[in-house]
Amino acid sequence: MPTSKLITENDAVELHPKQFVQWLRDVAPYVHTFHNKTFVIACAGELIENGGLEDLVFDISLLKAMGMRIVFIPGARPQIEAQLALRQIPSEFVNGIRVTNAATLEAVKEACGALRLSVEAAFSQGLPNTPMAGSSIHVVSGNFITAKPVGVLDGVDYQHAGVVRKVNREAIETQLNAGQIVLLSPLGFSPTGEVFNLLTPDLASAVASQIHADKLIILSHEDVLDEHGEPIQALDIRQAETLETHLPVENFLRQSLSAACDAVNAGVPRAHIVPAKLDGGVLLELFQHDGVGCMITQNSLESLREATAEDLGGILQLIAPLEQDGTLVPRGREKLEAELPFFSVLEYDGIILGCAALYPFKEDHMGEMACFSIDPSMQGMGLGERMMAHIENRARREGMKELFVLTTRTAHWFIKRGFMPATVNDLPDNRQKIYNWQRKSQIFIKKL
Ligand SMILES: CC(C)(COP(=O)(O)OP(=O)(O)OC[C@H]1O[C@@H](n2cnc3c(N)ncnc32)[C@H](O)[C@@H]1OP(=O)(O)O)[C@@H](O)C(=O)NCCC(=O)NCCS
Repeated sequence: MPTSKLITENDAVELHPKQFVQWLRDVAPYVHTFHNKTFVIACAGELIENGGLEDLVFDISLLKAMGMRIVFIPGARPQIEAQLALRQIPSEFVNGIRVTNAATLEAVKEACGALRLSVEAAFSQGLPNTPMAGSSIHVVSGNFITAKPVGVLDGVDYQHAGVVRKVNREAIETQLNAGQIVLLSPLGFSPTGEVFNLLTPDLASAVASQIHADKLIILSHEDVLDEHGEPIQALDIRQAETLETHLPVENFLRQSLSAACDAVNAGVPRAHIVPAKLDGGVLLELFQHDGVGCMITQNSLESLREATAEDLGGILQLIAPLEQDGTLVPRGREKLEAELPFFSVLEYDGIILGCAALYPFKEDHMGEMACFSIDPSMQGMGLGERMMAHIENRARREGMKELFVLTTRTAHWFIKRGFMPATVNDLPDNRQKIYNWQRKSQIFIKKL
């Protein structure tokens, strides 16, 4: 049973009132955007095993109170393992799927049943001075999932391991419309009354796509990392599929990446894989511009890359009007050619739609983002944000701790994205020397 977490006076004074008000205002646009949106949230059973259920329930309750419609699917792998160990039944996985004989199924049912009760109990809390005070959250479970057996594959009979055949969309919608949180266990039922053990990420993906959810969020106890061990913030489907193939088949993260790709392919606009070990991970992913997890989308980000000599003409064409109207400092072809290694471009079907340069100031561990532009016909579609995320990643890879920009017309765009106003004195010495006092550009810095 989860224990209640009291909010003490000390917690309340940690944040300065001004910061608190600013924080609340910053969050407001997300609250408006997500109101009435449907999120399917699944978590690895490890999160619950490690004592994270109560905090996750607090966070889900908060989302619910802000008008989001939630389906919650807690994974149960370690809990099933514990039940199997108690009964001295060996655990067997083939191709990432648990071979579920009758005895194993009993352990699965026991683990999922106990977990469901713990989740329902956690949502029922309402003690004063806890994040659940005043909440009246109703959680509904049921036979919403029809499953069929995995069957016999390559001579292996998976017995009571199943895959989703149908999600009862109407029944789930009815509950969501009535203001309930829908709680699903990784179990499905056949028309003949049999119970099947499902993979949590697969179930989450099937539910998200069939109820047309706005987001699939999977809390994974393993992070999405690149080959240098750095967190990856965004992947397109092809990149996610490539990454997935490097992980062992029974790995929860691999199954989550695969489920995320399936959901996005089936029309879910965004899937997020969020670190389960991070307290408040779901909130940070949803309400912070940069998020803390990895977002998987359909759109190929592959065209977002470092510039090559072939891109010179496209960049010149893109920035010429901005140089003419004074938005960007004129560079000229030769200077641009020499600076090409600092540039990144966003290319689609052979056309350069966006560019930005990252000038390093290695001694100061700082970088300048400059010549940032998106084709006017493509502005307002989030390409600028993606380009900035790419530049930030590039800067981090190059060991930079801070990113700065000089701008005359785009101050608010940068402020909205976490840049803070700064002065010439905050720039690296070498950059201060060439600051153009006539242009009077405003300076903004972001810590990376
Ligand atoms: C600034 C720029 C790169 C943003 O690219 P983008 O792809 O349109 O950016 P996104 O789609 O991620 O963001 C769009 C949002 O930025 C806002 N925005 C666009 N230009 C802005 C500006 N100059 N100041 C403040 N906000 C701006 C849009 O209104 C939109 O707001 P919304 O999301 O609330 O509707 C692009 O507008 C551009 O190329 N501008 C001209 C060049 C320039 O000013 N470069 C910066 C030089 S330092």
